[in-house]
Amino acid sequence: MKPLKVMVAVGARPNYMKAAPLVRALTNPEFAEAFVWPPIELKLIHTGQHYEDGLSKVLFEELALPQADVNLNVGSGPHGQQTGLILQRFEPVLEEEWPDVLVVVGDVNSTLACAMVAAKSHRRLPDGRWKRPRIAHVEAGLRSYDPAMPEEVNRRLTDALSDDLFIHSPEARRNLLREGIDEDSILEVGNLMIDTLDRLLPLARKSDVVRRLNLTDGPASGRVKPFALLTLHRPSNVDDPRSFKRLLRGVARISPGLEVIFPIHPRVRRSVFPILESLADGCTESLGKIRAVEPLGYLDFIALMERAALVLTDSGGVQEETTALGVPCLTLRENTERPITVTTGTNTLAGTAEERIVQEGRRVLNGEGKRGLRPPLWDGHAGERAARLLVQRTLEADPVLHGVTATSSMRAQIALPV
Ligand code: UD1
Repeated sequence: MKPLKVMVAVGARPNYMKAAPLVRALTNPEFAEAFVWPPIELKLIHTGQHYEDGLSKVLFEELALPQADVNLNVGSGPHGQQTGLILQRFEPVLEEEWPDVLVVVGDVNSTLACAMVAAKSHRRLPDGRWKRPRIAHVEAGLRSYDPAMPEEVNRRLTDALSDDLFIHSPEARRNLLREGIDEDSILEVGNLMIDTLDRLLPLARKSDVVRRLNLTDGPASGRVKPFALLTLHRPSNVDDPRSFKRLLRGVARISPGLEVIFPIHPRVRRSVFPILESLADGCTESLGKIRAVEPLGYLDFIALMERAALVLTDSGGVQEETTALGVPCLTLRENTERPITVTTGTNTLAGTAEERIVQEGRRVLNGEGKRGLRPPLWDGHAGERAARLLVQRTLEADPVLHGVTATSSMRAQIALPV
């Protein structure tokens, strides 16, 4: 059988945790043997949108992702420039490799740019048909309905270009149907990011990050002091120093005794320290202590998240991970594209007003935080389900080309378990 060529494109930190379970399933020989499918030839592409070791290399290693076959080294820049560079540099790679299917992940600029290249790459086959690689989108259908969010543009356009839309919650299906996406393209497989969390949590529990950050009562005691974990990087929250300061002051006012660990994203590296230094100016209350630390590896980060009394964030992934772990989360945004974490999980949309952050934070510390449940199919097996459907649908789209006929018995074998 002709191998099935699967290209997976990643670019920024939150992509790796979502791509890793799919890559694992596709390259797991036992898994492949269990189903009748052609050999898989995997190509991993890194756009280089995130390029620092702390945002890329360290995470690749911890997640056991294979080294990327190609790195486009696009680096940072304004949206047009970054997206344009990916278009320019990814096109020849796709043309040369010509995969059967391109998988894009999440909602970053790399996601949309790679999908656009594939969408325009039609070739004429000897039999006269036009063909391009299929496009599969992992984490499709999320909508914040906030047009000012660059990720919202990336999500909508990527979904419009994709053939296979892997979703993790029922509201994603509703969003896509509302946009006229064909029901048959929508595949609810569960949450791939939570596969990675479940797989690596036992290892993360061995991390000594709590001790390294002096979050225990003393060197001899293993008892962890109550602490909060904070992440902020959305341009709407951190690019204007006054808004950023209001958020940080709200967090610091929650409790005078509370240590708040704040692993900083490169985006805030320049502005955060002067703000922290002036946080107490004009404030009569005693404040908690916000400690800005360098970006953490994945294992350290989830080790902290699991033990935090409270997590405050504007990240999408962190809203999902806290829900999976049952840890109370306050989302410091006015909207979320992940409402299931609010309706089913432990997330509260706390907004960006200082007083509300203080109130909601105090409620959690008083034991009134949400208890929440894990949404269905956030069970550690989403990557396997996605891999099986990816292969099935790619073969079904062009069975002759791979020398196989997608028979009904084969379809039954690869079919999604209930
Ligand atoms: C991007 C994604 C966002 C995601 C976030 C996760 C888009 C539109 N946004 O935002 O959805 O939640 O990644 O981190 O794609 N920088 C470095 N080193 C790096 C990477 C970036 O210093 O390795 C700096 C850049 O110089 C730039 C800033 O960080 O000033 C922003 O980087 P960029 O990738 O453009 O966007 P993010 O804010 O990281």
